[in-house]
Amino acid sequence: MPGLLLGDVFPDFEAETTIGRIKFHEYLGDSWGILFSHPKDYTPVCTTELGRAARLSSEFSKRNVKMMAISLDSLEDHHGWSKDILAYNCDESGTCMLPFPIIADRKRELAVSLGMLDPDEKDKDGLPLTARCVFIIGPDKKLKLSLLYPATTGRNFDEILRVLDSLQLTAGIRVATPADWKPGVCVMVPPSIPEEEAAALFPAGVYSKELPSGKKYLLYYLKYQFKCQLRFI
Ligand code: BEZ
Repeated sequence: MPGLLLGDVFPDFEAETTIGRIKFHEYLGDSWGILFSHPKDYTPVCTTELGRAARLSSEFSKRNVKMMAISLDSLEDHHGWSKDILAYNCDESGTCMLPFPIIADRKRELAVSLGMLDPDEKDKDGLPLTARCVFIIGPDKKLKLSLLYPATTGRNFDEILRVLDSLQLTAGIRVATPADWKPGVCVMVPPSIPEEEAAALFPAGVYSKELPSGKKYLLYYLKYQFKCQLRFI
């Protein structure tokens, strides 16, 4: 059974969190959103991940992205573990709250409905834990990206920010970002736009890479030429 698909309206669930009961769409407001699950509180990889997410919270705010984490543990555990994460981060601000809420999905209803469980990782009662899932939701409340990592592989939050930059850029203008793209690198003309139309859309023009097939599909927008000096990747 397919779970949530790109473009689906993300479920407007209600949940208990470390900042109180929330309704997800209301919490997001007009912002983008990221919901990321972790397998278990008081575990090593999860501590490094939530620590990294907390250190990057200003980067997410800059991009107008509201963050939220979820696991199957209790609010009491979330609050106790948050202090450990802040200590791991050497956070001396005196706060005992992470800069994002954590959902306590004790009944597993939400994790099951969002397809977050990892059948290979079980708790002491033999029940599956949540995998490392990432959902990015747009201001229209639709799913823009989903990633699913097993419990044994910690996520790369630089990659998550990079993806957000691409999602936000391509939501605003008709461009596509190539492999390993980062802000400042040339963007491409998506295949749905013919070369003539692309040239009209971007008066600075397009660069077409010659290919053995003779087909003109490797098109870069020249608009970004000065920024990236035609660094193609
Ligand atoms: C961890 O966060 O370290 C972890 C949690 C569950 C399985 C494996 C690793």
